[in-house]
Amino acid sequence: MFKLACGLFSTPRHFGLCMSVLDLVCVFVSRRRRLYSSLNKCVVLGIETSCDDTGCAVVDNEGNILGEALNSQQQVHLRLGGIIPPIARDLHQQHIERVVGEALSASGLQPGDLDAVAVTVKPGLPLSLRVGLEYSKQLARAAAKPLIPIHHMEAHALTIRMTRQVQFPFLVLLISGGHCLLAVARAVDSFLLLGESLDDAPGEAFDKTARRLKLRNLPEFESLSGGAALQAAAARGDPTAFPFPFMLDRYRDCNFSMAGLKNKVLRHILRQESLHGVEADGLIPGVYDLCASFQWAVARHLCQRLQRAVEYVALRELLPPERRILVVSGGVACNSYITERLAVVCAEYGYTLAVPPPHLCTDNGVMIAWNGVERWVVRAGVTTDLDSVDFQSRCMLGEDGRADVEHAQIKCKWIKDGRLLGWE
Ligand code: KG4
Ligand code: ZN
Repeated sequence: MFKLACGLFSTPRHFGLCMSVLDLVCVFVSRRRRLYSSLNKCVVLGIETSCDDTGCAVVDNEGNILGEALNSQQQVHLRLGGIIPPIARDLHQQHIERVVGEALSASGLQPGDLDAVAVTVKPGLPLSLRVGLEYSKQLARAAAKPLIPIHHMEAHALTIRMTRQVQFPFLVLLISGGHCLLAVARAVDSFLLLGESLDDAPGEAFDKTARRLKLRNLPEFESLSGGAALQAAAARGDPTAFPFPFMLDRYRDCNFSMAGLKNKVLRHILRQESLHGVEADGLIPGVYDLCASFQWAVARHLCQRLQRAVEYVALRELLPPERRILVVSGGVACNSYITERLAVVCAEYGYTLAVPPPHLCTDNGVMIAWNGVERWVVRAGVTTDLDSVDFQSRCMLGEDGRADVEHAQIKCKWIKDGRLLGWE
């Protein structure tokens, strides 16, 4: 732009004009630049305690992680056979001070150097959310900083923008321990919900199935999350050994249901245990085939709901045809078997698939701090009225667009199993 301006005004006749206009342009641009950068330059500390991870990170507007720390309660909950909310709360209370201290000291900053404190306030376990929110308020109050309340699932959805250039709008599939959502991300604070889980979320179905299969009794799976253990076991089995039926195939919407599949698998385990007289801590014969078939049934269900969402997006022209992106995030997005199947759907419809690295897919403080940065930049939800901020255990993601998806009654021609499986 400067070169062009100089070229235009570089003849002697226009020299005087050239100087004054250029000066004006320069002053204007540098002012704009300074204004722009001072508005956007920020460092936000984010705190996550919505479920069983106490996470904290300090992130700047360029996506640099200046400091981070995480205390996972996974091993405790694995031993107890599930998340017990009062125990999760106690562990958050025990660790939050240390985790925040570690993240801050790694960043080399003091609370006074921060621009804001971001904290997950919804959705999540009430007892867990409360710990993070109360601590964040104390921190913000002591340092006289504003607070940025964060929606946990929005944070999962936007994490990708920290690691690579993904512009709005994009389609997002969130698959975690508590949620399964399909939405169009239109802006930092604007989402259109296309479908969500009617019962068990995929991570929950993975965890319960892995627990019932007693995968933890195999030493190599002992310390893994239920989902990770089941994926590892599934790699040794045949995904077509148990042909599970399609889920929700009579409903032309984008909602999800895993409970039926989970219950079928649980009934099969019970039958096999009694048939083969399996001991209390023993595993049923064919356990790997069952894991592989379960995982494939979940993956195919996600692919089918995604396929309808992609067709709905095209019908309503919700994404620019030249820039169609699917972001997949949440803990279950660590499962490469599932993301490889989703990649087939993306290839079929000309979408680019974008998945954050695994440590940013599971719960962490970085995604909360980054969402705080994104909100700080557009001044969305930043508040100094700390008393007005409360937590909310249940909360929908964005605007509810599910009725229109159902109304569209899109009948998809399913991508063949062989193609999804990568066999043809
Ligand atoms: O997003 P996240 O950390 O917590 C929630 O917000 O729910 O997700 C945790 C879930 C757990 O259910 C865990 O079993 C699942 O993610 N998960 C996996 C895998 N790794 C973690 N599920 C399937 N395959 C994996 N490799
Ligand atoms: Zn999560």
